[in-house]
Amino acid sequence: MSDRIKDIIKNIHNLVSELLGADPESAAHLGRPIARCGAEAVEPLMDAWEENRSDDRVIINLIQTLAYFRDPEVLKAMPEIIVAAKSLNPQLRSMALYGLGRLVDNLGSDMFGDSMRLKMFDTAFETLKDNAAPVRRHSARALGKMLKKGILTGEQKDKVYKAFNAILGNDAHEWDNAYTVRHEVEQFIPLCRPATGTGDRYRQSFRIVEKRELCPNTYYFAIKAPMIARKILAGQFVIVRPNEHSERIPLSICGWDSEKGIINIIVMAVGRTSGEITSMNVGDRLAGIVGPLGQRSHVKKHGGACVVIGGGYGTGAVIPTARDFKELGNRVVGIVGARTKSLLIMVDELKEVCDEVMVTTNDGSDGIKGFVTHALEALMKRGEKVSHVLAVGPVPMMTAVSDMTKPLGIETYVSLNAIMVDGTGMCGACRVSVDGETKFACFHGPDFDGHKVDFDELMKRQKMFVSKEQEALAAVDF
Ligand code: FES
Repeated sequence: MSDRIKDIIKNIHNLVSELLGADPESAAHLGRPIARCGAEAVEPLMDAWEENRSDDRVIINLIQTLAYFRDPEVLKAMPEIIVAAKSLNPQLRSMALYGLGRLVDNLGSDMFGDSMRLKMFDTAFETLKDNAAPVRRHSARALGKMLKKGILTGEQKDKVYKAFNAILGNDAHEWDNAYTVRHEVEQFIPLCRPATGTGDRYRQSFRIVEKRELCPNTYYFAIKAPMIARKILAGQFVIVRPNEHSERIPLSICGWDSEKGIINIIVMAVGRTSGEITSMNVGDRLAGIVGPLGQRSHVKKHGGACVVIGGGYGTGAVIPTARDFKELGNRVVGIVGARTKSLLIMVDELKEVCDEVMVTTNDGSDGIKGFVTHALEALMKRGEKVSHVLAVGPVPMMTAVSDMTKPLGIETYVSLNAIMVDGTGMCGACRVSVDGETKFACFHGPDFDGHKVDFDELMKRQKMFVSKEQEALAAVDF
């Protein structure tokens, strides 16, 4: 034992008194030297706990210090920490779970008896549903540390795996929106995921395995991207770079097969990079795909019908969300609009996930003559109760739909993928005003409440890059 530690031990009671009145930063500073004293410091700390039981601030400081210990004597504090994790004070609950996770990490797995393991697991697992995000974050982390140390039973691991999947929105659509919680869960979920024996799923070749022309200049691609296919959720998007020298463009996903590791995108050749993608063929490999990015669509069970509206190539993007609505037991009506019959795309695919699909064409060559708003109007006129609308497509179409549903009080979301550039929150090009607040379509969206979006500003922003795009197009020959 070093002289310094001997000095600290001699002084331990003074240090503990100082710790009791310390602010959080000073408490962290004092806690580490106290913890280095090992077993001899545990008793003064537990005495202080007993004397200050009703003072949450003091207990928080004590737990923070105990969490630094590596001596097994500290296990005497675990029953108190477990009780503190059920306190009414969220800060104390959060600190108790932090302490629990750290002690699991600091001590050998053989230090915990069966009954202690069970109590620690139950405490952390129950608090995964806590109202406070910091508490959920630390409970997820504590469970992660238990997984890492291998102290959970097979049954407990299964429970954690299912809960972590739900948090990530991978199963019952009850996800946790707190980034900090999802981040913890993402780190630890590989430790409880059942082995699949299919290592190939983790290789991302970005090879094109299917290409179909849907209408002139618009193609459907199936691409090998297993890691993205396993994680993507309806409403999210990817960034695609066709070759080493291309710019990267954001694209919506119209479907995926997580077992086969395939994602499906629709690309309309409107600019240089989209043209580079559409000129590629089956067997070619894209240089890179990043994703999934953005937030999941707003999906829940509604009282009335959920209407998904796809204009032009936006039709593909509404399919995954329509499927989620359907799986939750909603009645789902799809509306697809195009200028003319030959430009209608993905109607059959949309029919597979909707109860009904209505078609509109501007020239009347198929379905209702007019715009998607005419179909929505016809739907409501015949008595359909509409509870939710999602519109994806050209900005004027999304504006018209939002203008129509606003006075009727129908919840309406629009997808603003079209205004993104880098898709990572860095370039600022996708800034949009929503209810007077600045949002980034790629980070906060792409789906936003259509009644709160400033569409006038959005239209102006969309025109910003037209001349640059024309220059880029003129410089290339596909
Ligand atoms: Fe660049 Fe959103 S697309 S910040």
